[in-house]
Amino acid sequence: MSLHRNTLNTPYFIINEASLIDNLEKAKQLKTISGAKLVLALKCFSTWGTFDTIKPYLDGTTSSGPYEVKLGHETFGGETHAYSVGYSTADIEAVKPLSDKIIFNSLSQLDTHYENCKNAASLGLRINPEMSVAGQDLANPARQYSRLGVKQNLLTPALLEKVEGFMFHMNCENKDVDAFIAILDHISENFSDYLNQLKWLSLGGGIFFTYPNYPIEKLGAALKAFSQKHNIQLYLEPGEAIITRTADLVVSVIDIVENEKQTAIVDSATEAHRLDTLIYNEPASIREASDNGTHSYIIGSCSCLAGDTFCETQFDQPLYIGQKLHLMDSAGYTMVKLNWFNGLKMPSIYYQRVNGDIELLNEFGYEDFKRTLGK
Ligand SMILES: Cc1ncc(COP(=O)(O)O)c(C=O)c1O
Repeated sequence: MSLHRNTLNTPYFIINEASLIDNLEKAKQLKTISGAKLVLALKCFSTWGTFDTIKPYLDGTTSSGPYEVKLGHETFGGETHAYSVGYSTADIEAVKPLSDKIIFNSLSQLDTHYENCKNAASLGLRINPEMSVAGQDLANPARQYSRLGVKQNLLTPALLEKVEGFMFHMNCENKDVDAFIAILDHISENFSDYLNQLKWLSLGGGIFFTYPNYPIEKLGAALKAFSQKHNIQLYLEPGEAIITRTADLVVSVIDIVENEKQTAIVDSATEAHRLDTLIYNEPASIREASDNGTHSYIIGSCSCLAGDTFCETQFDQPLYIGQKLHLMDSAGYTMVKLNWFNGLKMPSIYYQRVNGDIELLNEFGYEDFKRTLGK
C-alpha cells in the first residue's frame, strides 16, 4: 500500500530508490570497466527491505560480524564474505556453512580456525598495507598500533598453503583517484610475490566512486591493469558509495529555546539515531536550510546529552513548532547504529519507489524497546 508523505509520523527515515539506482548504475559501470566484483558492506547499510533493488547490481555481501553473515546469506544471496576482527569457535560454527569466503584478521585467528574451515570456504587474510587515505584517525585502519590486519613483515610464503586471498581495507571516503592508485601501486610493488599466487584480492571499501565527477573510468582502468598484471580476481567492498545521498532522516521541531542562540529541539537525537554526527563531529545538512538565510538556529536533539546537536544552520524564515526538517544523507552507518538511548521513539523506515509509491519497511514501538532490555 502506498502512503502519503505528509501523513507520515516523525521521526522517520525515507530512502529514495531512484537515488539508490543512480549510485548502483555507477557501480555497474565500474564493474564493467574493471572486471572487479562488488560486495555490499553490510556494516554500512543493512536495511534489507531495499535489497531487491541492489541485488541485480552487486555480487553479494561482506560482513564484519556473524549476524551480518547470516543476514547477507538470507536476504541478499550471491557471494557471502565473512570477516571479523575476532571469531570465537562458536562464531565460526555459525558462519562456516553460510560463507563463500572467510577472511581472518590475524595469523593467530587463521591458525586457530584453519583446520576447521579449510574445506568449508575459500580462506583469506586481512593485511595492513601501512598506508591509507582516511580523513580521521579514528577511522584509519593503518593508524599507529592498529589491530586491523597483518603487517608485511609477519608474512611468510608458507601462508600460501592456507589462504587463497588477501583483503586490504585502507580507505575512508577517498574521493581522490590518484591517491587510491598510489596505494594500489604500493600494494602491487610490495606484495607481488603473494599476489601472483593468490586467487583473489579484496581492496575493501572507502572508495567514493559515486561522488559527483569521480573519474570512474580511470579507477576502472587501474583496477583492470592490476588484476591483469597479477592474474587475480579483484573485489571491492563498497558501503557508503552505494548508499550515499539516498536517504533523509525526517524530524519535527518540538520546541524552540533561547540561550544567547536559538535552538530548535527536534524529536530525534544524534546519540540515538545519527551517531556518526557525534562520533566524527560531522554536522548534519538540512534540506530546508539556506546559505543566505538570516534566521540562525542550532538544531538540537531530544536527548539528555548537553552537547547533542545536529548542526547550526540558517533558514530564510523562522522555524515553527511542528515544522518538518530533513536531515540529508542519513543512510550509511546510521540505521545500523540505531539505539534506544533515553527511550526515544525509534524512527520508522520508509522506502520511496521509483514510481513514487512509499512503502513502510518497518516501524517500532514501546514493546521493541522493552524487549531489548529484558524478557
Ligand atoms: C573491511 C571493510 N570493508 C568495507 C568497508 C566499507 O567502507 P565504506 O562504507 O567506506 O565503503 C569497511 C568500513 O569500515 C571495512 O572496514
